[in-house]
Amino acid sequence: MTAGKTRVRALRSIDIAMTDKAKALQFFTDAWNLSLVAEAAGVHYLRGTGAFHHILSIREAPQTALIRMVFDAADRQAVDVIHAQAVAHGLNTIDAPRALKQPHGDYGFGYKDPEGRNVAVVCGVRGHADAADRADRPRKISHINLNNSDPDATFACFRDVLGFRLTDTTKKMRFLSCGSDHHSVVLGFGDGTTLNHIAFEMPNLDSIMRGAGRMRDNGRGIEWGPGRHGPGNNVFCYFLGPENLPIEYTGEMQQIDASYRAGEPDDWKWPPGRLDHWGITAKPSERMELAGQNYLFTADGWRLDEWR
Ligand SMILES: [Fe+2]
Repeated sequence: MTAGKTRVRALRSIDIAMTDKAKALQFFTDAWNLSLVAEAAGVHYLRGTGAFHHILSIREAPQTALIRMVFDAADRQAVDVIHAQAVAHGLNTIDAPRALKQPHGDYGFGYKDPEGRNVAVVCGVRGHADAADRADRPRKISHINLNNSDPDATFACFRDVLGFRLTDTTKKMRFLSCGSDHHSVVLGFGDGTTLNHIAFEMPNLDSIMRGAGRMRDNGRGIEWGPGRHGPGNNVFCYFLGPENLPIEYTGEMQQIDASYRAGEPDDWKWPPGRLDHWGITAKPSERMELAGQNYLFTADGWRLDEWR
């Protein structure tokens, strides 16, 4: 926990734009195993098996893009305190907390982070009562991994505005937690303000492997993995989705509490030739490493006018 800061509770959802929405929707429902839950004003909403109303939204645009990341706050008071933390941090592209329409919650605000990423903080989203795991279906967004031009400034913003806690640092990235999952946000030390990948949490190892098979059937082989990561100890398989969206099926994420001791780069050195705990994965494909460069945040995605 970051001393004195009010924290968000979760990364609820990611809003994205695709040049061919129909193809993207077909992929995310038929191959990735999310379920279509709503459509409004040209935006399609997809849910996992968890309680969150949706975990991904897709709209059509001339260029692929990230619209925003949406974080969950406990209540209106928490939204107001997080807003005050954002103002105190010196963010100046920021809206005031206001009433929102479902399914986006009943109150929230948006801002741009120091590198221009669009963030929304909301509370009161009406969720689903049927939230039991289902085999081979993602529960929720596990984490988003972001490349950075200014990793220290971005880390300070996640820590001081959203209350994230640093759980591990490796030579390449910082891992940030806002709850019991070891990480919900990962911040790399380079590669510009682009997307590294979006990870979806599967209920178990078997579901990850079956998902990898379904992706193969869909003409999309594994770009990295399978393996078990160092920080977080989670199992991974990475793929390129529609329009080369870098995506991961993950599971078995380490659960932590306040006693977790953050590791340093020296704690996370692999023996020569190893990149995961099992020792079975090779390097990520080059196209996987480059894919996220096309995913930049839009100029105005921090404005939540479409939700009011
Ligand atoms: Fe990941």
